[in-house]
Amino acid sequence: MAVILNTLHARAATRISLRTFRLPGPCKVTRPNALRSLNTNTTATGSSQSSRWRQILYTTGAVAGVGAIGLYYALDQSVKASGLELHPPAYPWSHNGFIKGFDHQSIRRGYEVYKQVCAACHGMKYVSYRELVGVSHTEAEAKQAASEVCIADPMLVEGVIQVLDGPDDTGKMFLRPGKLFDRFPSPYPNEEAARAANNSALPPDLSVIVLARHGGEDYIFSLLTGYMEAPAGVVLADGMHFNPYFVSGSGSIGMAQALFSDMIAYEDGTTATQSQLAKDVVTFLSWAAQPEYDKRKKASIDVSSVAPDGRVGVKGLIDCPVYCPKVLLIMIPMLVLLTFWKRHLWSTIKSRKILFRETIKPPKKS
Ligand code: HEC
Repeated sequence: MAVILNTLHARAATRISLRTFRLPGPCKVTRPNALRSLNTNTTATGSSQSSRWRQILYTTGAVAGVGAIGLYYALDQSVKASGLELHPPAYPWSHNGFIKGFDHQSIRRGYEVYKQVCAACHGMKYVSYRELVGVSHTEAEAKQAASEVCIADPMLVEGVIQVLDGPDDTGKMFLRPGKLFDRFPSPYPNEEAARAANNSALPPDLSVIVLARHGGEDYIFSLLTGYMEAPAGVVLADGMHFNPYFVSGSGSIGMAQALFSDMIAYEDGTTATQSQLAKDVVTFLSWAAQPEYDKRKKASIDVSSVAPDGRVGVKGLIDCPVYCPKVLLIMIPMLVLLTFWKRHLWSTIKSRKILFRETIKPPKKS
């Protein structure tokens, strides 16, 4: 056997197609009638046959039973009124996809929408102005944004956001204009004030809202664009609005429709339709929730090393500014090598055929 295996091994190394490989001489089937494969070598007695039928019967019964229960459940669910909640459709976000990153122009426009519309009610306490630098704004623009008037803040003094800071050298707190390291302020000093201003509904902080809601971007986009008249039979409480996508299930939401076509003028001239505004603000919120998104995606496909002078190369070998080909340069040759290596290792097992030889009894003397 060792000789056979050695022969096989040597052949496997030189041949490309190994699947059709056959055992050499000594194991060739010379008398097919005298040989039986393991599968067919069962002596079917009456009792084993009946137990097999019983097994088939039980299996069929179990499958039919489970199928019937499943069908009953599906039919039962289909006629149940499960509230008015609509599930958002899946939208083709430009940053979804294996090698896609955020659309940074959209982040910039989205910040504009947030600043001019949403910031009146929602804060983003985990995002600071300095994070905009290099993402959607230059440093000067971000500094300007930090000190700009964007909300009806109680600490607004002479048109500039004032941040309570301190204590100073004399131990007193003081007000100063917003700076790069400040977080996006909340429009309300506390939860009670927020509820009081919004018909007792609490506008949530939007820093990580995209990750905090089932459906993420699709849900928030649908929510922002899905306002409609309450259907007949639905009675809304005072100050409530109807939105079938809202997770409450009844469709009743404390936030009024916030986005309307042409409500703001984009600086880059993009037409500000309602869906454009919603798409941009959701892209902005998505970036805010995961500012590491682009880097994370890049890291997963980038196997490059960065030289001290900033040049990028495959482990310092090849200069290649495009990311995808760099991955392919490494992965394709590795895949080919690994395939051949695997086939080589398994060749002795894959090309082995096990047969059982029936003992041929000498004919009885009569
Ligand atoms: C006039 C105030 C106001 C404005 C402006 C506003 N919202 Fe809201 N928002 C609310 C309130 C109040 C709630 C809480 C609703 C509730 O719980 O019934 C809310 C809830 C939300 C929710 C959470 C929904 C959920 O599933 O719990 C999101 C997301 C949201 N707003 C996004 C936005 C965005 C984006 C904008 C800007 C385009 C915006 N809002 C503008 C008041 C506002």
